[in-house]
Amino acid sequence: MRLEKVTPTNYAAALALSVHPDQGDLVAPVVKSLAEAYVYPDHAWPRLIYDGDRLVGFVMAFFDIKWNDDPADLRSGLWRLNIAADAQGHGYGRFAVGAVSEEIRARGGTRTYVSWNPRTGGPEEFYLKLGFRTTGEQSGGQTVGVLDLG
Ligand SMILES: CC(C)(COP(=O)(O)OP(=O)(O)OC[C@H]1O[C@@H](n2cnc3c(N)ncnc32)[C@H](O)[C@@H]1OP(=O)(O)O)[C@@H](O)C(=O)NCCC(=O)NCCS
Repeated sequence: MRLEKVTPTNYAAALALSVHPDQGDLVAPVVKSLAEAYVYPDHAWPRLIYDGDRLVGFVMAFFDIKWNDDPADLRSGLWRLNIAADAQGHGYGRFAVGAVSEEIRARGGTRTYVSWNPRTGGPEEFYLKLGFRTTGEQSGGQTVGVLDLG
């Protein structure tokens, strides 16, 4: 498994990535994330997830985003994580969270933040299984979680 930058060669395949139809409320489509990455080039880190030559997902990290009124509370974490419908349940999500956490650590960070839709069938159990804990905060109706990188 590996991460690749989005390039002229692979971007069309990236736009075609899709989660299950009933997961559309859990994560934005890749096209929206790439638009945000264009608008926030200093904070967004979009990457494609490959298993060999097979494109299996998309992950976008955010770095050093001001979270609230406290200028010292700059956070990094997972902005988006989309594993293709037919590739879910094979460890790609876990790999992507690990790769983003490594990148955060390499940039001097100590925590990986994420927020998720708390509905039944959402990714909450996935994040809790990977060691995230809830912070008690809500962000736009989403549960905020954090992983201490130790
Ligand atoms: C949630 C998601 C990212 C997980 O990725 P994945 O590649 O399917 O998950 P993995 O195979 O890496 O799973 C890692 C572990 O979490 C568990 N897990 C994964 N999704 C789970 C879920 N929805 N509920 C409970 N457990 C889950 C797996 O069983 C696995 O456990 P194991 O190691 O004991 O076998 C993926 O299913 C997805 O893209 N879902 C739709 C979009 C979404 O919700 N994105 C997150 C937005 S915040």
